[in-house]
Amino acid sequence: MSVLQFLTTVHFDHGMRRQLPQLLASEGVQRPLLVTDQGVMAAGVFAQATEHLPAHSRLAVFTEVPLNPTEAAALAGAQRFKDLGCDGVVGVGGGAVLDLAKAIAVLATHPAPLWDYCNRHPQAKRIGATPPLVLMPTTAGTGSEVGRSAVIVFDNGIKAGVRCPDLVSAAICDPELTLGLPPGITASTGMDALSHCIETFCSPVVNPPADAISLDGMQRVFAHIERAVHQGHDRDARWNMMMGSLEGAISFQKGLGAVHALSHPLGALGFHHGTLNAILLPHVLAFNRPALGDKWLALTRQAGWTVDTCPRQALMELLRRLGLPTQLQHLGVAHEALASVAAQALEDNAHKTTPRAVSQADYLQLLQDAF
Ligand SMILES: [Fe+2]
Repeated sequence: MSVLQFLTTVHFDHGMRRQLPQLLASEGVQRPLLVTDQGVMAAGVFAQATEHLPAHSRLAVFTEVPLNPTEAAALAGAQRFKDLGCDGVVGVGGGAVLDLAKAIAVLATHPAPLWDYCNRHPQAKRIGATPPLVLMPTTAGTGSEVGRSAVIVFDNGIKAGVRCPDLVSAAICDPELTLGLPPGITASTGMDALSHCIETFCSPVVNPPADAISLDGMQRVFAHIERAVHQGHDRDARWNMMMGSLEGAISFQKGLGAVHALSHPLGALGFHHGTLNAILLPHVLAFNRPALGDKWLALTRQAGWTVDTCPRQALMELLRRLGLPTQLQHLGVAHEALASVAAQALEDNAHKTTPRAVSQADYLQLLQDAF
């Protein structure tokens, strides 16, 4: 039996952003560092998310968030936190922003380098007291607001997690913040959420509560992703996508699998996490299919498939309906990079919980299939 841990306080519903001032006050935060990115700013979503904050709480803003959050960006954010005399951190954005906000909170009270706290470090240091941290997702994808780690590209080129399960003071999930999200980002982040639900359900780690949550999340994403993509202002679809994303991340404490083992090293090359997962998922699920036993039946029920459905074909058709790319080469991945990615996948934490044994040659074949 694995450890069961369902921790983060989540304020979830349309309009829940109104809770932000109260949450910060209850944590004693007067001067938060607001972490967001240029895209969230330009779309007006940052202004919407923080509209209930008094003006003096909106002065310290950090927007230098790379597509994949880096160790250097975390250090720069922590420096800004100290320079501006901040006493808390608020992340407003997609997974990159939320993960970076976590890393900034760690470095605000702990000495660099961040690598010392990485779960790939042979003797990772413990994380002690950190400033209050409130996370507000503006996509329905990573579920980083309740995830147990911050995934960072370190200075040594490795993309991996800083395990920080106690870091988040509260999450505010307000689906209204996603109503204007463009179709492409809705689709790619939504496929990240789906890959979390599927991979963690298929993980062999025993955790029935997490299985139940991942199945519920899977059903919500399968049932609502197309509406969320093609009718972005559908409030019900957005609500369900955000809940599916949250459920994927609550449950992926069971561990993920080959999709993420491959997308982490590919992401370190600069490609978008959700889009990579969308492309990899059909091939990985087809590979895992013979090892899934009864889980396959449960999965097909959530997807609206039959037991005989070919997962590769069904998911590829879904990608086409969502307008997503279906091959890694469409993203600009170089064929020469595949061998090294296959080797790195074996070192990734997600590799430890694949439902079917995967060799380096298998990883390379999966990459070739997805290329
Ligand atoms: Fe992911």
